[in-house]
Amino acid sequence: MKTLIVFYSNTGNTLKLAKVLADKLESETLEIKDRRNRKGLIGFLRAGFDAITSNVTIIEDFNLKFADYDLVIIGTPIWAGRLTPAIRTFLIGNSEVFPEVAFFATHGGGGSSKALIQMEELVEKEPLACLSIEKSSLKDGSSENIQEVDKYVKTLQNKFE
Ligand SMILES: Cc1cc2nc3c(=O)[nH]c(=O)nc-3n(C[C@H](O)[C@H](O)[C@H](O)COP(=O)(O)O)c2cc1C
Repeated sequence: MKTLIVFYSNTGNTLKLAKVLADKLESETLEIKDRRNRKGLIGFLRAGFDAITSNVTIIEDFNLKFADYDLVIIGTPIWAGRLTPAIRTFLIGNSEVFPEVAFFATHGGGGSSKALIQMEELVEKEPLACLSIEKSSLKDGSSENIQEVDKYVKTLQNKFE
């Protein structure tokens, strides 16, 4: 299967998980970049506000055809229980052109269920699988061996056998 992993990451956790998945699935990756500054206290408060109010943002352009892939896996950090504005913006702009989709999220302990449902609603497509990982599991040296990650990878591989 030809797979693309699309993700946004502000502090590196979702990037780390995206890399583990890309390695296991031999996929290409596309990192979505948010042009808004999300650093510092103001950036943090604005990030939470934008997530709660379902605001979109400005993301950097990319040049990829999603129809070239069998599966697009989309990953986001959880902000205020929601998906990030960058991934919201990405999904709104591209939902019509996705092949099969799967989702993943990293969080600080609050879970990801609401955000994963939001993603499904925006794409209007049922994901083949969803993965939710707490950031503490992604500490150096442990991120390659998370059982849930292996289960997720196997589920996706089985769909294309
Ligand atoms: C603005 C903001 C809001 C957050 N809200 C939540 C939350 O509601 N629940 C939670 O479990 N973690 C929350 N977190 C923690 C992030 O989801 C977690 O650190 C995630 O792994 C960050 O991914 P990244 O390093 O790829 O940016 C929040 C972080 C930020 C910056």
